[in-house]
Amino acid sequence: MARVKTQYKCRSCGYISASYLGRCPNCGAWNQFEKETEEVQKRSTKATASRLIKKTGINEPVKLDKIKAEKEDRIPTKSEELNRVLGGGIVPGSLVLIGGDPGIGKSTLMLQIMSDLSEKYKVLYVSGEESANQIKLRADRLGVGQSNMLLYPETDMHDIREQINDVKPDFVVIDSIQTMNEPSLDSMTGSASQVREVTSELMKIAKMDAITIFVIGHVTKEGAIAGPKILEHMVDTVLYFEGDEHHSYRILHSVKNRFGAANEIGMFEMENEGLKEVTNPSSIFLDQRLPNSTGSAVVVSFSAVVVSLEGTRPLLAEIQALVTPTAFGYAKRTTSGIDYNRAALLLAVLEKRGNLMLQNQDVYLTATGGIKLNEPAIDLAIAMSVASSYKDKEISSTDCFVGEVGLTGEVRRVDKIDARVKEAAKVGFKRIFIPRHNMRAALKNVGIEVIPVSSIPQALKLVFD
Ligand code: TYD
Ligand code: MG
Repeated sequence: MARVKTQYKCRSCGYISASYLGRCPNCGAWNQFEKETEEVQKRSTKATASRLIKKTGINEPVKLDKIKAEKEDRIPTKSEELNRVLGGGIVPGSLVLIGGDPGIGKSTLMLQIMSDLSEKYKVLYVSGEESANQIKLRADRLGVGQSNMLLYPETDMHDIREQINDVKPDFVVIDSIQTMNEPSLDSMTGSASQVREVTSELMKIAKMDAITIFVIGHVTKEGAIAGPKILEHMVDTVLYFEGDEHHSYRILHSVKNRFGAANEIGMFEMENEGLKEVTNPSSIFLDQRLPNSTGSAVVVSFSAVVVSLEGTRPLLAEIQALVTPTAFGYAKRTTSGIDYNRAALLLAVLEKRGNLMLQNQDVYLTATGGIKLNEPAIDLAIAMSVASSYKDKEISSTDCFVGEVGLTGEVRRVDKIDARVKEAAKVGFKRIFIPRHNMRAALKNVGIEVIPVSSIPQALKLVFD
């Protein structure tokens, strides 16, 4: 029997102390310490090791070329968006974490996907959040109330494990990890040690019995350490479901995937009948554009909503600018969805290299649709939208722009140019302005006029003269 050592851990920053403290000396949070016992951790690492030995049948070092690895099969779901984010479908026996803010639609997504899978597979939906009645009502509303899915409202891991042994499902959903309780631990449900222990238990079940398990985890503001973040290293795949509370679109993206590329994105729209796939994401952000208005420019971006998100999915987004004379001495600049400092820099470049008198102008910049854009390739579109509003000259609604802008006013190369040009052509744009250094013969006959630009002054000339 292992020695039991007790320690106390801060829920919000993870600081470890030998005794209970009221206030964390590391992060300053009050009443965040909880008891942890060392023995539990030892037990779980040991179990993980023996599980891997069992699975691969290898218990000594082996040369790589002696190992026979089979390519994993994939189970495609009805949702093309989810399939892409997972890297081509669900890998049987994997443990997938779906994180996101409360109310963003995680349960809805799982209910829809799992109901569909239950036509061919055995699915067990364990809910610790809602009653069977609530889930049934929601399922009816989503049009999946008649599916074969098994529903099990329970939070006790002991019982859940038993039911999994009895039912032998192919898929299990745990909704949510924060409500599950491992009775052998004496810490509180939802605490860091509970969440970790339950996850490692689920990992064991997934690997030993080749059951695919989806774990839902709420991102919690208070005590972020008990949220999905502390589980990321334990699971195979981590997906985050995100969106803007004032808009109906939702983005699912992979931040970690042992079976595919990370940073893949899938788009959904939350409607009254549940989540609908968005097969043409560019349409969401463009369909409310006014024709012939000044101050609007479209960009093909790869980075939307999440910091440094670089999936394989290009997206057309609209950037709007409003430039008006400053009423009182100090020129005001505001941005929404665009980095403030980046915008300030571009305004300075426009002033110095493009001869636009912006110092006595208020400038408002926004990426429409509540989207956040954060890659340098949006620079040219920002500059053009500002110039358009300043000059009061419209940009043709069939033009779009891609390019990073440097301090000397040069338009710099961006990555993934082919995919950007193709997407612009697909959505129906007639011309795309791209950096000269990105120009290649292959971009000649792609159903859209590709115009290379090398500098801001040249771009202003081409677009507005
Ligand atoms: P839910 O899946 O319960 O979120 P989570 O599990 O991430 O906490 O989604 C709840 C929200 O979604 C709720 O605010 C209502 C909205 N919703 C719809 O707009 N349409 C629907 O068909 C459903 C089921 C939910
Ligand atoms: Mg839920």
